[in-house]
Amino acid sequence: MAYEHTLSIIKPDATSRNLIGKIIQLFEGNGLSISACKMLTLTQEQGKEFYIEHKERPFYDDLVSYISSEPVLVQVLSGEDAIAKNRQIMGATNPADAEAGTIRALYAESIDRNSVHGSDSTQSAKREINFFFPDFT
Ligand code: CMP
Repeated sequence: MAYEHTLSIIKPDATSRNLIGKIIQLFEGNGLSISACKMLTLTQEQGKEFYIEHKERPFYDDLVSYISSEPVLVQVLSGEDAIAKNRQIMGATNPADAEAGTIRALYAESIDRNSVHGSDSTQSAKREINFFFPDFT
């Protein structure tokens, strides 16, 4: 086990339904701590850059519009195996496949409006944390 940091986004579908508190309760209740946190509305340019790895995917334009549409809460979550743990707590990308009790099973509306994002590797965690929190150490 390694102590890690990972980037989490509570997405527009969740912030707009007042689910921030319930989602944070699941992170904190499952052993993750919030080390940094801010609320902002991404510009289209920020949305494009953040999701650049999906540039060639057919859903890219819709994904960028959606993530930039309303405020999001971005956080650094920290703890033992934080990257994998956060992904377990979130559940599968498509809520139809998400395990019972996970954030996406509980709250996501669809694969596009799936309530949360979490870094999927050490490398992406570094890049994504630096994207929103350049001074985070
Ligand atoms: P996220 O973890 O934020 O990473 C990229 C997002 O693209 C993903 O969550 C989904 O909300 C969205 N998305 C839309 N369609 C798809 C798809 N077919 N496969 C994967 N992700 C998709």
